[in-house]
Amino acid sequence: MQVGHTERLWIRTWEAADRDEFCGIAGDPEVMRYIQDGRPWSVARVEKWILRQQRNFEELGYSLFKLVNRGDGSIAGMCGIQPYGEQETEIGWWLRPDAWGRGLATEAAREVLRFGLYERGLAEIVAIADPRNLASIQVMKKLGMTGGGIAVEDGRELVKYRIART
Ligand SMILES: CC(C)(COP(=O)(O)OP(=O)(O)OC[C@H]1O[C@@H](n2cnc3c(N)ncnc32)[C@H](O)[C@@H]1OP(=O)(O)O)[C@@H](O)C(=O)NCCC(=O)NCCS
Repeated sequence: MQVGHTERLWIRTWEAADRDEFCGIAGDPEVMRYIQDGRPWSVARVEKWILRQQRNFEELGYSLFKLVNRGDGSIAGMCGIQPYGEQETEIGWWLRPDAWGRGLATEAAREVLRFGLYERGLAEIVAIADPRNLASIQVMKKLGMTGGGIAVEDGRELVKYRIART
């Protein structure tokens, strides 16, 4: 299902058939370097993750979404929102490396923030990153998110940015 679009991307919900193509992204060590334990994901883990996104969309009306290149129909990556702990909602983004450095994450995230804050009525969205992940932190700043917070996950200290509905 299509939930939005930008100049260069379609923003869609996931299908089981996306598994293998998305494994090319979640299974890439360069993409996963700063994600959780830094290890590339297995096919089984990707399959479970897709099921969780489908369930989140059904139950909450949002999820981490598939980003599809409008040019050739390939999957560029993901960007969307999901619950973070009991109270918060976080935005996340991963792109395949040949798509990096062209402003695509910022383009997708702007639309996802608009969707979350104004279509779904969330009061605030946070973003979390490994402090070494300067590209991701730069995306947060370009989106107008403000930092200063810290999140701790599995003993790792992460930076936390936020943006509120105005
Ligand atoms: C983070 C990620 C989504 C960014 O995607 P992208 O489409 O390249 O992002 P954008 O082009 O919109 O913006 C990236 C910004 O970071 C900057 N940047 C990139 N690498 C950088 C680095 N090593 N140090 C400092 N800034 C950097 C770019 O110059 C750009 O800023 P600018 O427009 O002010 O010049 C992409 O690198 C990715 O998929 N990484 C792997 C997955 C990941 O770590 N996701 C985030 C988890 S918190």
